[in-house]
Amino acid sequence: MSLITDTEKYLTKTINELGYKTDYVKLEKSKMPEFGQYQINCAMQFAKSYGKNPREIAEEIVSSLDLRFTNVNIQGPGFINVTFSNQILIESLNKAIDNFDEFVDKDYTKKTIILDYGGANIAKELHVGHLRCNIGESIRRLAKVFGDNPISDVHWGDWGTPIGLVIREIAETMPDLPYFDENYKGEYPKISPVTNEELGEIYPKASLRKKEDEKYALEANNYTEQFQKGVPGVRALWKHIVDTSKPDCQAVYDFLNCKFDLSYGESDANPYAEPVIKFLSDKGLTEMSDGLLIMHVAKEDDNKEMPPLLLKKSDGAVLYDTTDLATIMQRMQDFNPDAIWYFVDERQSLHFEQTFRGCRISGLVPDNVDLKFYGFGTINGNDGKPFKTRDGGVMSLKGLIKMVYEKIEPKIKEEITGEEREEVAKKLTVATLKYADLLPYRKTDYIFDIDKFTSFEGKTGIYAVYTATRMKSILNKFSTGKEVLKEIDNSDVLDIIVKLTELPKNLKSAYQDVTTSYIAEFIYELASLYNKFYTNNNIQAEQNSNLKETFIALTRLAYNTLTNLLDILAIEIVDKM
Ligand code: ARG
Repeated sequence: MSLITDTEKYLTKTINELGYKTDYVKLEKSKMPEFGQYQINCAMQFAKSYGKNPREIAEEIVSSLDLRFTNVNIQGPGFINVTFSNQILIESLNKAIDNFDEFVDKDYTKKTIILDYGGANIAKELHVGHLRCNIGESIRRLAKVFGDNPISDVHWGDWGTPIGLVIREIAETMPDLPYFDENYKGEYPKISPVTNEELGEIYPKASLRKKEDEKYALEANNYTEQFQKGVPGVRALWKHIVDTSKPDCQAVYDFLNCKFDLSYGESDANPYAEPVIKFLSDKGLTEMSDGLLIMHVAKEDDNKEMPPLLLKKSDGAVLYDTTDLATIMQRMQDFNPDAIWYFVDERQSLHFEQTFRGCRISGLVPDNVDLKFYGFGTINGNDGKPFKTRDGGVMSLKGLIKMVYEKIEPKIKEEITGEEREEVAKKLTVATLKYADLLPYRKTDYIFDIDKFTSFEGKTGIYAVYTATRMKSILNKFSTGKEVLKEIDNSDVLDIIVKLTELPKNLKSAYQDVTTSYIAEFIYELASLYNKFYTNNNIQAEQNSNLKETFIALTRLAYNTLTNLLDILAIEIVDKM
């Protein structure tokens, strides 16, 4: 249903035919709804270029408009206000009742887009910031809605120093393990010597020791080098650590409805590390500096410092820059994508700028492939500082989830018990976390205000889910699944309808600007308008059969639209709560 786009095209044609040259005439949402639903504001522009009175031009335009509009009027110097005829609104929205696609303007060629988000580091617990994987997941879903071909990759951080540190620590506490015996010739044990819970303690301890003990840090780096190189014992231990830690992180992603098409890690790009280094070196782009193989990516006109890409240490170990370049080489070969988009903490923007430059300078990625870094802000506590636990420690993502769950569970109706209660509480927890995370503009830091986010009022996940649940129970009671809009001379109905005419543009902007907040805002507005409608009108008691059918059709339309929008945010609804 591109009522607005179609109308804009119609206006552009009509106005050009009047002799006013214009590429595109926009319909703007009215700032004064008492005069009309939309405005056409181009008369003022033409007045300047054609040396005419804008009101005269506006009158000329008005007299050539067709019957899709009613109540056409001119305000001020030449603002044209228009209102869609009920008939055209009914026609176009009836098409959308059972077909959300009607709201999606798919007018371009399908793209294959690799989406890189998640990025958990193996051997470390997910922290609060990892909640922001929601953004990438949502954009993946939005890309699907638009008919593109998104491929999501979690890109596990499994090839860097954290695992080296953990191995260093294990070497001290369990020195007799065969992994550390260079002369060991037998098979390594099938079972990991450490559990995930133990990893949860080992990593923080090792990370502290590294800061205080230089020798310890060097030894840890040495282990990193060894598993990268494939020294059998250390590699086998590395594998145990990966296999122990990964399912735990994966479970959190599953809980948050994040679906990864690829579960690759940095380690999967390892076979491409040497080839990519060779690729760059063959082009004469690398050099040695202080024992490091580097590639310069600075430009003459850079107005900030642009450090070189660091590719290889003298001990042969590769670095974060290398794995990202290698991963890109792998992705280009495997998928030949039109775009690679990264959803990563804003603080990594420099790393990605360097990496992208390296890709362009070397031709690893051709210019027509869209490389984008979509950075996100930090999640803070009420004090505006990075979220901490009560005793000042780093808050894990699981800890945050638990906090929200405990706050929400008591709000669920008493009659919902047992497993069902748990299921509902889980879904509402996810809804709360997701909505809170996807509402603010991506780049800004936000405060995780748990009281506000778990409220039934205002811009929250539970408010949206609650509204959808209400609609569903109305439909269960009254709907045959066939009702259509019949007459819409009711201001509560009309408000919802007019809001829905804005949805195609909203979705398109959300996708173009890669901004989920537009969708989250729309969800709130739609839910509020529906609740207002529900308060003011009594569906059951309505005597006029056309109006009654319209009310039910409107509920179907609002419900289907709302649940589809929630699905883009990866929020599921519940039957009761
Ligand atoms: N594991 C990284 C980190 O936590 C994030 C990975 C982001 N993606 C990438 N391709 N570098 O810092």
